[in-house]
Amino acid sequence: MKKRVLQGMRPTGRLHLGNYLGTAKGMVALQEDPEYETFYMVADLHGMTTPFDPKKIGIEAREVIIDYLSVGLDPEKSALFLQSDLADLHVQLAYYFSTVVTIARMQHLPTFKEKVKQHPENVTMALLNYPILMASDILIYKASVVPVGIDQEPHMEVTREIAKKMNSLYDLDFPEPKSLDTKGRYIPSLTGEGKMSKSVQGSFINLTDDSETIKERLSKVPTDSGKGEKIPEEGGVFSLLTLVELFQGPEKRKEYENGYQGTGIRYQELKNELAETIFKELEPIQKKRLELEKDKSYIEKVLKEGAEKARAVAAATVAEVREKMGLLQKEKI
Ligand code: TRP
Repeated sequence: MKKRVLQGMRPTGRLHLGNYLGTAKGMVALQEDPEYETFYMVADLHGMTTPFDPKKIGIEAREVIIDYLSVGLDPEKSALFLQSDLADLHVQLAYYFSTVVTIARMQHLPTFKEKVKQHPENVTMALLNYPILMASDILIYKASVVPVGIDQEPHMEVTREIAKKMNSLYDLDFPEPKSLDTKGRYIPSLTGEGKMSKSVQGSFINLTDDSETIKERLSKVPTDSGKGEKIPEEGGVFSLLTLVELFQGPEKRKEYENGYQGTGIRYQELKNELAETIFKELEPIQKKRLELEKDKSYIEKVLKEGAEKARAVAAATVAEVREKMGLLQKEKI
């Protein structure tokens, strides 16, 4: 039996290089691995737990799909769908789950507390229910594998607790899903501090950047004299060497490191060459994206087929839970 994977992506704007190397490539690898069956969902309902623009949220959800299609997700191999297209099932199951979760448990989650700090004016029931809806997203497909970062671990724990409680109270067979480290690489920021992040200006390269823009961004990475006994393990030079390794290979990095400890590195040349190599990898993704942007009806078709695939599984789970919880099955009313 294939292991089922469910991953949810919040619609938080376009992908940058860090997301691409850290997340998207891992998702494509899972899709290609015959051991797994992949369900990839845009968590647009979760996008409503913090302030959002009703004029944009629908478009942004589709942007996520376009981004992931352009980096290689294949609707023939993965179910790609919007959470809101299955709101009737996901929200319904979340409600059943909410009968076994206490308010105190939700209020004490570090993820909840952090959001309360960020948006003190927006401490809503949707926010409190966030982890329960996420548990529903996962368990509705009886997924056993969830590729998420460490920041989502509190939600994964809640998910396992809910699975255990539902199983023991109602004789169900939910798996206790595990998070999976997709071997996504840590991509350091171009500022030399922390990781590449959309919320830090000057830290990232966009997947849509042309070679001039990439050159400009790299030109701002702080460097040093280019020489020294010890290869830097942090800061701008470390970021550059990491990117060299990722895009030009470990040997190239070694060459530069030898240079650093020898005659010195000329950063201008390193940066220009690196920018060219990064652009070469991004160019086909950008071409694919342009094609996809032109064909709105294709995107809608992908979403419709993805939702149908997902619905077949999700509807069966909800029917099973309703029956086990004592809501007698009857003809459609
Ligand atoms: N909470 C996740 C995040 O912010 C997004 C998400 C929603 C999710 N539902 C999910 C992730 C289900 C994995 C599985 O990243």
